[in-house]
Amino acid sequence: MRIVRTKDYEEMSRKAAAIISAQVVIKPDCVLGLATGGTPVGIYKNLVNWYKGGDLDFSEVTSVNLDEYRGLPREHKESYWSFMHRNLFDHVNIKPEHINLPDGMNMDADAECARYDKVIESVGGIDLQLLGIGHDGHIGFNEPSNAFDLGTHCVKLTDETIDANQRFFNNRDEVPREAYTMGTRTIMQARKVLMVVSGKDKAEIIKKAFFGPVTPEVPASILQMHPDFTLVADEDALSLL
Ligand code: GLP
Repeated sequence: MRIVRTKDYEEMSRKAAAIISAQVVIKPDCVLGLATGGTPVGIYKNLVNWYKGGDLDFSEVTSVNLDEYRGLPREHKESYWSFMHRNLFDHVNIKPEHINLPDGMNMDADAECARYDKVIESVGGIDLQLLGIGHDGHIGFNEPSNAFDLGTHCVKLTDETIDANQRFFNNRDEVPREAYTMGTRTIMQARKVLMVVSGKDKAEIIKKAFFGPVTPEVPASILQMHPDFTLVADEDALSLL
């Protein structure tokens, strides 16, 4: 595990974007595992700027997103499909047929999860997986539990996650209660994993996840075992280490 300490959110975003950009330059037809949440927004801004400046080309890149709310149409502004288009896909030259997310409107959970696992397998697995972290240690939507979930699965979001995501919706009732998420095995099989974290409110969970025991009660802790894991975090997020 490698820790890159940055002064603030902006530097975190630039450094993490530089790692993703290096991946795309070295392997133009790479598979990027992408993430949502507030934290990666600054990364996507940098990637869009570098693309516009002619330094990045997404024409051969394939993306697979970590997760999607179940039951939210993709046209909804808070679907992860919309988030990704608004923040990245609409502004770069990635081909629409190379973009993959779980289909939140397929209510047949078993069929949708099996389909998504096949998609990831058919593109040859993930070269670089970007992650944020939830306050309870969740990655994607792998919530704390008594076992690590393996492949793509349907999850019931915890109250803490619903509370945290309420800021994106008009009120708490509008926050979806379920999601489809890539499982821990898929994340662990990514050839590189990059996590970005910013802010004092994440300091406690960073300490627990990366300097405590590996346990499904703190899903991110499993990344301690990944052979190529980089954590890019600002001083506030690392303040308890
Ligand atoms: C959501 C996403 C996660 C993300 C988390 C933290 O739950 N499913 O992938 O890491 O939010 O988001 P934020 O970066 O806004 O704190």
